Amino acid sequence: MCTEKAVFAFSLCYLLSLSCALSSNKIGVNYGRLGNNLPSPYQSIEHLISMNVSHVKLYDANPEVLKLLSRTRIHVSIMVTNEQISSIALNQSHANLWVQENVISYYPDTKIQFVLVGNEVISYNDRKMWLDLVPAMRKIKKSLNKYDIHNIKVGTPLAMDILESSFPPSSGRFRSDIPSQVIVSLLKFLNATKSFYFLDVYPYFPWSANPTNMSLDFALMNYGNVTYKDPESNLVYTNLLDQMLDSVVFAMRKFGFDNISIAVSETGWPHAGDIDQPGANAYNAATYNRNLVRKMTSNPPLGTPAKPGVEIPTFIFSLYDENQKSGPGTERHWGLLENNGMPIYEVDFTGTRPEKEYSELVKPVSNMPYNGKIWCVAANAVSPMELAAALDMACGQGNGTCAELAPGKGCYEPVSVIAHASYAFSSYWAKFRSAGVPCYFNGLAVQTITDPSHGSCQFPSVVV
Ligand SMILES: *[C@@H]1O[C@H](CO)[C@@H](O)[C@H](O)[C@H]1NC(C)=O
Ligand SMILES: *[C@@H]1O[C@H](CO)[C@@H](O)[C@H](O)[C@H]1NC(C)=O
Ligand SMILES: *[C@@H]1O[C@H](CO)[C@@H](O)[C@H](O)[C@H]1NC(C)=O
Ligand SMILES: *[C@@H]1O[C@H](CO)[C@@H](O)[C@H](O)[C@H]1NC(C)=O
Ligand SMILES: *[C@@H]1O[C@H](CO)[C@@H](O)[C@H](O)[C@H]1NC(C)=O
Ligand SMILES: *[C@@H]1O[C@H](CO)[C@@H](O)[C@H](O)[C@H]1NC(C)=O
Ligand SMILES: *[C@@H]1O[C@H](CO)[C@@H](O)[C@H](O)[C@H]1NC(C)=O
Repeated sequence: MCTEKAVFAFSLCYLLSLSCALSSNKIGVNYGRLGNNLPSPYQSIEHLISMNVSHVKLYDANPEVLKLLSRTRIHVSIMVTNEQISSIALNQSHANLWVQENVISYYPDTKIQFVLVGNEVISYNDRKMWLDLVPAMRKIKKSLNKYDIHNIKVGTPLAMDILESSFPPSSGRFRSDIPSQVIVSLLKFLNATKSFYFLDVYPYFPWSANPTNMSLDFALMNYGNVTYKDPESNLVYTNLLDQMLDSVVFAMRKFGFDNISIAVSETGWPHAGDIDQPGANAYNAATYNRNLVRKMTSNPPLGTPAKPGVEIPTFIFSLYDENQKSGPGTERHWGLLENNGMPIYEVDFTGTRPEKEYSELVKPVSNMPYNGKIWCVAANAVSPMELAAALDMACGQGNGTCAELAPGKGCYEPVSVIAHASYAFSSYWAKFRSAGVPCYFNGLAVQTITDPSHGSCQFPSVVV
């Protein structure tokens, strides 16, 4: 125990001395922990420090992480989870308790800077939670005031899907199915408390949905000769991120709020993804994130065309790949670091390193969509028990998904869980991909361009 403690103490002093050298850059990193193979919180904080990261955003208020961060100079953003919102909205003493447990226990040793209430609340189809959001934010702010804490801002991260129109930016408009009471009370709260509108914003998604029509350089912030002039505002855009940010500025303006600053609570670019996801590679991820850091650290601040000169606090998503996230392959490949702490690609968080001083990255073979057939088959080395359960699930959806697997039919042989699961995954995915179903099956499935058909058994495929 003693030795362990001593090593611990030494290492923290080392951390502290390094962190003293931090510049005051405004770029933070999201520390998501939905992985079963991630470094410990202690190692993770060491990694943040050696990366010169000065701000970190958590998806909860984990006691171990918050305690460890108290020995550093890193600024911290903590989160009230979506499940906690309604109870806090209901009762001021629940808010007080939350603040006591998650803020007062650590602050000011831990430099808590933001309390974010919920995560992408409006993206969930839960109207009660929408209506509870701002009351919960108000109660948290009231508790902080009660404890005489005035420099922690309260906000809530929202995704781009809160807008029903975002292009051209001047057409930016909040979704009409969201009660205007929710929007107005949120904007009133943010304006009155001089907090930020926290936005999760990913140029990767609109670009990858339409990669042949949209310039990749425009999405990656490689300033070239591609510009876009908004016909309504006449503002000229040199990159997609600015367009997306300004669509929110214009949406807020339509409600009469023109003085709420935006903070980017998440952005980034995936370094890997599925075969049907173009442009997800380390080269593009490095390019986007390096350009992002340069943009957001420039002094004086650049702002956006609609808000020139305004500073935009920014958190990159994410510290690690999170292998327990569901959805398409990109969801599990937003990380900056490998699980052993080595960078997947380098990013200088001070934004001062010129591109030529980075070691060269392998250029992607193609950034264009794959054209051809794709199948969805059982992954290697997965548990047969889990495969059997996924097979049942896929076949249980009906619509003849597994008709060919019946005894006597073309795909009955070979009678093995792996062979049947591969057929069922391909068949299920081919039927439901257009409804947004990924080839994932809880990590049991992978895409392939090698036709798994055999003999009289034709595997259904997706043609992209
Ligand atoms: C962190 O900053 C120090 C001092 O400015 C610098 O020497 C070091 O290379 C930086 N580390 C990274 C990973 O950029
Ligand atoms: C609020 O919560 C406290 C503590 O759980 C409880 O004693 C009190 O009755 C609640 N107040 C209301 C109005 O529900
Ligand atoms: C790409 O742009 C062209 C010309 O502007 C348009 O006709 C076409 O529909 C667009 N394609 C997609 C997939 O949006
Ligand atoms: C401008 O962009 C077009 C299309 O990408 C390219 O063909 C052209 O060479 C570029 N011009 C300059 C001056 O970079
Ligand atoms: C925003 O807050 C300022 C005070 O900080 C106030 O003067 C202004 O009226 C508010 N704007 C709106 C639209 O409520
Ligand atoms: C606009 O917001 C900034 C930053 O929060 C603040 O300093 C300024 O007073 C605000 N202006 C008005 C007119 O509310
Ligand atoms: C599945 O079958 C139902 C009922 O026959 C039909 O309404 C639905 O469109 C089918 N879905 C697919 C993806 O084939």
